[in-house]
Amino acid sequence: MNQEKHTEEGLRQQEFIAKMRKIAEKKEKALGRKLRFHIETFGCQMNARDSEKLSGILREIGYVEEAKEEQADFVLYNTCTVRENANLRIYGRLGTLNSVKKRSNPGLKIAVCGCMMQEPDEVQTIREKYRFVNLVFGTHNIFRLAELMYRMETEERMVIEVWEGTDEIVEDLPAVRKYPFKSGVNIMFGCNNFCTYCIVPYVRGRERSRNPLDIIREIEQLSKDGVKEVMLLGQNVNSYGKTLPEPLSFSELLREVEKVPGIERIRFMTSHPKDLSDDLIEVLGSSEKICSHFHLPLQSGSSRLLEKMNRHYTKERYLEIVEKLRRAVPDISITTDIIVGFPGETEEDFLETLDVVRKVRFDSAFTFIYSKRTGTPAAKMPDQVPEDIVKDRFDRLLALVQTIGQEVSGRDVGRTLPVLVEEQNRQDPHMVSGRLSNNTMVHFKGGTDLVGSIVPVKLIESKGFYYIGELSE
Ligand code: SAH
Ligand code: SF4
Ligand code: F3S
Repeated sequence: MNQEKHTEEGLRQQEFIAKMRKIAEKKEKALGRKLRFHIETFGCQMNARDSEKLSGILREIGYVEEAKEEQADFVLYNTCTVRENANLRIYGRLGTLNSVKKRSNPGLKIAVCGCMMQEPDEVQTIREKYRFVNLVFGTHNIFRLAELMYRMETEERMVIEVWEGTDEIVEDLPAVRKYPFKSGVNIMFGCNNFCTYCIVPYVRGRERSRNPLDIIREIEQLSKDGVKEVMLLGQNVNSYGKTLPEPLSFSELLREVEKVPGIERIRFMTSHPKDLSDDLIEVLGSSEKICSHFHLPLQSGSSRLLEKMNRHYTKERYLEIVEKLRRAVPDISITTDIIVGFPGETEEDFLETLDVVRKVRFDSAFTFIYSKRTGTPAAKMPDQVPEDIVKDRFDRLLALVQTIGQEVSGRDVGRTLPVLVEEQNRQDPHMVSGRLSNNTMVHFKGGTDLVGSIVPVKLIESKGFYYIGELSE
């Protein structure tokens, strides 16, 4: 897509922001107070970043105060549909919200967006059974929030806009960051991998990489605004740039990000093992800024199942990558995602997964029970594993993952390491909490003046998954 198109759409949305601001001003006068909003985000970092963009637009319109659902004038649920229980939760929450609206907040406007809304059946359910919802939109329509809200205010019915896909990337949207000192940065959207269990490619569309110049420009601006840590976001960052008019690899992009002054920490999410290049490992080894944490989803340790999952690597290849990562960055923390109970999983397959967990010794792992997603190839596979067997395997996996996690995560006790201080400690106001380069949390005595800075902290005691430390001068 060409640059002009982006600006044209950007300008169009600015016009709707202005129109909505007038409506918001009227509401404000009638209420005699500022307008309040509530955004709730479900799912992954992609959704979290989308929500920052959505709140950026809301603030420009005049919704300036964040509030609880009961007190808000506009509530937006940004949904996830990666596993079924995510969907069930949304419907539960919408039910509660409806009684709030009826009981005490009749002016409340309700919107639902995100991945779940990309599924026609779910939109149909909302249309039929949740008629009090005012606005529904999908993952490709985020940048049109102002226009959609304008329609919501001027049309007397539920407004629904869900595009099936898009190749458009709109730049220069306002965004409000949750933390002033760290920020997610989208480097690509969508996914082309079609792992057979996964709904994401269907709800996020085809893989599109952002122009590297736009990415660097955004990071430079973030740095000027005081951001020290960036998290580069994509469903498969290792395949970044392959479809650009002038291809540029992920490792080349990392080298460019590394040059941005003021940025001190670089993270990224998610790496797919199949596209992980030796060049990337080399960049990790030589970089001053890339954090010593690597999230490398395994999904299964059985090569037979990995093939059925369409993952394009084997158990051996996975272990080889881990070895290379550790050779390049000896104290790197490795974390992962694992699915239990994929169709056809035998006890033998499962034992292969446990074997990889024992060999790699992950710092931590997100473990998931396989969830059947309608429309994905795995949903139609024979031999869906019975619930009781899956539950038993899940418990065994979790126990192993936790035992190993506790053993490895205390390994830095006694060392003094840099911590990016994130916030005042939630339990003890005399303490602050922050993260090591490897993403482990550290709590230590200190004032809120430290929030946002990187300071040396001596790690005194390991508490399993976090440390208690001491500020070192
Ligand atoms: N793009 C990332 C993951 C995105 S989804 C990657 O390729 O790793 C996050 C995690 O949810 C996945 O890693 C997977 O472990 C899990 N997941 C996805 N679909 C699932 C399903 N149908 N059932 C259970 N877990 C699933
Ligand atoms: Fe889903 Fe696979 Fe794409 Fe990750 S790489 S989002 S698991 S299809
Ligand atoms: Fe969920 Fe969508 Fe992310 S389905 S995991 S929020 S891309």
